[in-house]
Amino acid sequence: MRRSIKKGMQQPLLSTVTIQGDLDLHFDIRPGERILIISNAQSYLTHGFHRYPTKFFPELPRWAIQKYTKVGDWVLDPMAGSGTVNVECIVSKRNSIAIDVDPFARLLTRVKTTPLREDVLADTFNWLLAQLANCVPP
Ligand SMILES: C[S@@+](CC[C@H](N)C(=O)[O-])C[C@H]1O[C@@H](n2cnc3c(N)ncnc32)[C@H](O)[C@@H]1O
Repeated sequence: MRRSIKKGMQQPLLSTVTIQGDLDLHFDIRPGERILIISNAQSYLTHGFHRYPTKFFPELPRWAIQKYTKVGDWVLDPMAGSGTVNVECIVSKRNSIAIDVDPFARLLTRVKTTPLREDVLADTFNWLLAQLANCVPP
């Protein structure tokens, strides 16, 4: 983690913290401070399923979840978007609720957080291949 001072647009001096990968749990965001996260986890697990605009770098909610909640706690994201918080809650063994006004966001979050049985997935894949093999182009 690197704390540096850079010139801002509105205020003459704002400090910018540059973080590569996971944030240290002892890290505190200071008032007025900017954070630049260089993510290592954007495609980790289901995080890369869709390029939902303005989604979190997973490292930020992971830090907040682990810093402010315990295993088994409930986390609410009332503007869940692509469900980054909810995926990270699964990773950190927290329960979570996602709310979003956008039906696509709700579908995407459900897809990204629903565990699938490996045998069902394999059977479905084989069924799909068989359907394609039998498909006659028009
Ligand atoms: C910045 S995005 C959240 C992105 C999310 N953190 C992620 O990582 O994908 C904000 C979300 O808030 C939702 N939203 C906006 N107004 C809302 C409202 N009044 N109630 C519920 N969701 C709302 C939008 O549909 C959008 O998905």
